[in-house]
Amino acid sequence: MATCSARHPQLFIFIFSFCFLSLACGRVVTPNFKVRAVNLGGWLVTEGWIKPSLFDGIPNKDFLDGTGLQFKSVTVGKYLCAETGGGTIIVANRTSPSGWETFKLWRINETSFQFRVFNKQFIGLDSTAGNGITVVAVATTPGGSETFQIVRKPDDSSRVRIKAPNGLFLQVKTEEIVTADFKGDGGWRDDDPSVFVMTISGRMQGEFQVTNGYGPVKALQVMREHWSTFIVEKDFKFISSNGLNAVRIPVGWWIASDPTPPKPYVGGSLQALDNAFLWAQKYGLNVIIDLHAAPGSQNGFEHSASRDGSQEWGLTDDNIQQTVAVIDFLTARYAKNPSLYAVELINEPLSPGVSLENLIKYYKGGYDAVRRHSSTAFVVMSNRLGPADPRELFSLASGLSGSVIDVHYYNLFSDVFDNMTVQQNIEFIDTNRSAQLSFVTTSNGPLTFVGEWVAEWQVGGATKQDYQNFGRAQLQVYGQATFGWAYWTLRNVNNHWSLDWMIKNGYIRL
Ligand SMILES: *[C@@H]1O[C@H](CO)[C@@H](O)[C@H](O)[C@H]1NC(C)=O
Ligand SMILES: *[C@@H]1O[C@H](CO)[C@@H](O)[C@H](O)[C@H]1NC(C)=O
Ligand SMILES: *[C@@H]1O[C@H](CO)[C@@H](O)[C@H](O)[C@H]1NC(C)=O
Ligand SMILES: *[C@@H]1O[C@H](CO)[C@@H](O)[C@H](O)[C@H]1NC(C)=O
Repeated sequence: MATCSARHPQLFIFIFSFCFLSLACGRVVTPNFKVRAVNLGGWLVTEGWIKPSLFDGIPNKDFLDGTGLQFKSVTVGKYLCAETGGGTIIVANRTSPSGWETFKLWRINETSFQFRVFNKQFIGLDSTAGNGITVVAVATTPGGSETFQIVRKPDDSSRVRIKAPNGLFLQVKTEEIVTADFKGDGGWRDDDPSVFVMTISGRMQGEFQVTNGYGPVKALQVMREHWSTFIVEKDFKFISSNGLNAVRIPVGWWIASDPTPPKPYVGGSLQALDNAFLWAQKYGLNVIIDLHAAPGSQNGFEHSASRDGSQEWGLTDDNIQQTVAVIDFLTARYAKNPSLYAVELINEPLSPGVSLENLIKYYKGGYDAVRRHSSTAFVVMSNRLGPADPRELFSLASGLSGSVIDVHYYNLFSDVFDNMTVQQNIEFIDTNRSAQLSFVTTSNGPLTFVGEWVAEWQVGGATKQDYQNFGRAQLQVYGQATFGWAYWTLRNVNNHWSLDWMIKNGYIRL
């Protein structure tokens, strides 16, 4: 800061106080302490694997948004397929199922569904050709003529028939002709061309699935119950009395239109976030707000509230501006609360779907939105997942004071870790993670934050001592990050992913 302007004393004093107050001058702001945080994952943005019971009461819960279904015709013994991935007819001539043979559900209610194909069109009946019974995948926006029912065989739920909007069933006339004109009796015989053996190839359990699964009335009850019980005041007390000084709180974009967010989301998460700020202040904790789910989904995962695995965030200026408005809203609301420590503009945008160009456009807008309301909040920018240069945000972030780069380090999600022993995992932390973190931690660049890590791995049968050593190694290395670190997550049915459990059972000591 002292290098700002030495030649003009008055200007210096002016700029000095300006810098002091606003962080707007010196590029490098050294915080007074390092963040030792825990994520409050699965609270305001649903992740089914963190709390599966949240989904228990959904009727017909096999069929949620984003569920991938494959259908093998019992008569021809081959799979339904959107020829060329979509845009033309549906055929039944594929021997093994993959992308073109997988149909992603959009749930209308517990009995009605739409099917999205690989190229993102929806299955429907061809209204242009003669009798309107040919099954095609051409509609880009689904409506009534793209809405089907799935009828399961009562004593064998893998056998299904698909009822079209004209009231008739789909049938496989030949491998190359699939129509919606079967009036049969539903005897489920092997010579019935309307019977398919269904395989579920993938499921999603995010905020879209849980809220749309319950429907508006029930979702409101279930989510409010979840928000008021999953994380409570005494958790903040526990966090602050166990060597932590901050929480990173994932939120979804719909929080900005509380209490009446767009369907299927339900209102009330803003009240929960307000409570978090009250408790943070009471127990002296810092809050990092983390926009974990951006409109359209920045990575296609359930944790960014994707409906069907699609990643559509950032493709238009409107979408980027809508997201900037969410950041503006959140910062404005909490800027005066002394616990607001940082705002993370977006979590884990995925390369190459999110281009660097669009991401930078957004980060500039998001940074300015934070600075409109707060001169002191740090602004966290998540590195892209997938193929990306870990320093690709440096040229942007280095020019923006109070900026932080977020990197997530898991010894998971890659076959690199498949056969590693306990010792190899620990060496990977000491050598490879340490080198990766040093590479992004530079004296004149942005601050660095290991915003997600966990003492879990792919080692089978590891002992408590092994876990302790693994956790300790990570704390040692991630302690070098200049902004700090955050464990994923506070509470989780999977014990090692629950810092609450890890601390209470002596696996991690801070
Ligand atoms: C489900 O949606 C379909 C199509 O919109 C509608 O006809 C039907 O009445 C709905 N069923 C229920 C149980 O709401
Ligand atoms: C399936 O049928 C379509 C439409 O006739 C044809 O173009 C395609 O080559 C067939 N594919 C296979 C694997 O038989
Ligand atoms: C891990 O070991 C299994 C069994 O020996 C082997 O099949 C697999 O290829 C290995 N994976 C990697 C990534 O080395
Ligand atoms: C880890 O780093 C070491 C030393 O630089 C290197 O030889 C090794 O290939 C790296 N391991 C992985 C899995 O990237």
